[in-house]
Amino acid sequence: MAPVRIFDTTLRDGEQTPGVNLSPAEKLEIARHLARLRVDVIEAGFPISSKGEFEAVRAIAREISGPVIAGLARINPEDIYRAYEAVKEARRPMIHTFVATSEIHMRYKLRKSPEEIIEMTRVGVRTAKSLTNEVEFSAEDATRSDPAFLCKVFQVAVDEGATCINIPDTVGYTTPAEFKRLVGTIRANVRGIENVIISVHCHDDLGLAVANSLSAVEAGASQIECTVNGIGERAGNTSLEEVVMALRTRKDHFGTDTLVVSEQIYRVSRLVSALTGVPIQPNKAIVGANAFAHQSGIHQDGVLKERLTYEIIRPETIGLSSSRIVLGKVSGRHAFSMRLEELGYSVSQEEVDKLFVKFKELADRKRDISDKDIEALVDSELFRVPECVVLDYYHVSAGNRTVPTATVRLSVGSSPREEAASGDGPVDALFKAIDRCTGLCVTLTDYSLRAVTSGKDALGEVTLKITHNGRSFSGRGLSMDVIEASARAYVDAINRLYHSGPEERAQTSAAG
Ligand code: KIV
Ligand code: ZN
Repeated sequence: MAPVRIFDTTLRDGEQTPGVNLSPAEKLEIARHLARLRVDVIEAGFPISSKGEFEAVRAIAREISGPVIAGLARINPEDIYRAYEAVKEARRPMIHTFVATSEIHMRYKLRKSPEEIIEMTRVGVRTAKSLTNEVEFSAEDATRSDPAFLCKVFQVAVDEGATCINIPDTVGYTTPAEFKRLVGTIRANVRGIENVIISVHCHDDLGLAVANSLSAVEAGASQIECTVNGIGERAGNTSLEEVVMALRTRKDHFGTDTLVVSEQIYRVSRLVSALTGVPIQPNKAIVGANAFAHQSGIHQDGVLKERLTYEIIRPETIGLSSSRIVLGKVSGRHAFSMRLEELGYSVSQEEVDKLFVKFKELADRKRDISDKDIEALVDSELFRVPECVVLDYYHVSAGNRTVPTATVRLSVGSSPREEAASGDGPVDALFKAIDRCTGLCVTLTDYSLRAVTSGKDALGEVTLKITHNGRSFSGRGLSMDVIEASARAYVDAINRLYHSGPEERAQTSAAG
């Protein structure tokens, strides 16, 4: 059986995760990693949604080779032309167009009759096909649509030249057995379907997205749409790493696999988490911090005797290093740069130099530096936006019988600003002092702290989100001192805000 195609929609449906807001540069960086992962299709975005989104999709189409680059469009000519403009320079461009087919969506959202939906599909797919060869057509809310009507709509799409028909479980409503039947019904009733790709796109509202996608493969689907870490609208989408590793680990059962380079999974997962600010739950399958941890004595004993007793996937298969102690204070630039290479980073000499300075700073404070420390360092340093705001200095005073206070000095542009504030805790005081320095009125909406490694000298990584004028920005900070990690994360988010576009800058400088 041919490999199952992986259609990655991290940059489109994944970006629809509440509070996620990726810059064009961040989207491009994720696309580079997805190409290294060798997904078949990258859905780079929804070009008509904003100018920035259009530019991001175009930049990805221009640079990335290997995967097909898709742009999403509602089924109207304006959307379709805009999507085409954004992807047309790709080696293999694709227009992905969609319309809803369920009674609920047609009646209440679109206010269109079934006949009108059929006509819109005809015109939309024909328009897309006149622009580019690869056209995917999706019937939104397919799993709550009348199957006979759904087959009629798909028939029109296939007759008009769609090269892929996609069956979305838009609201995560279906079950594995039901979805399998639906895929079977569509295969049996749409003429010419054997010549097109049958794709499925599941949401995780009932926690069934992966199971439903795999069930569809058993029914003959040839493509799965998914996102890294399963991010996406509401409860998210089918998780890429889970379907890929299920197909690989149980190839004996499914009789097929994907072309994904699984050793890249861990790296892409971390990157997506870092840039979206969406943390990975510790017990998440495949990429969670506990996914390969054996806690109970019985399990540890079993694994030590024979790892197959409790391990169905080798950690190295997803690119997880064994966290050896590798480097320390006396390690030189060459050893550091070699280790980066072994860990799979392809960084320029200039970046190595920058990272080496940070590595030395860390080595002065931490005796043994593990692969995980290095990965955290690289992720936090390489994906920084240019710094308009620089943290020069902070001092925090806190205790169980004192009012926490913080003094902060920042450079905003070229002007130093120093302010003090008190707060409900040391981090609150610190953030209030930073707000006074920037003059911005931001709201902290999310804050999480995790230890990168174990031990008293572990690096702490803070991930947080702020909102400003209805827009959300994530920030990350890394330090052995959690207060410093918090300050760095907050300043990182503020820099992303400053960096986010002219209208935002105008508002922020007016406020500042
Ligand atoms: O969930 C959905 O229906 C979608 C479509 C645009 C494919 O994301
Ligand atoms: Zn979706």
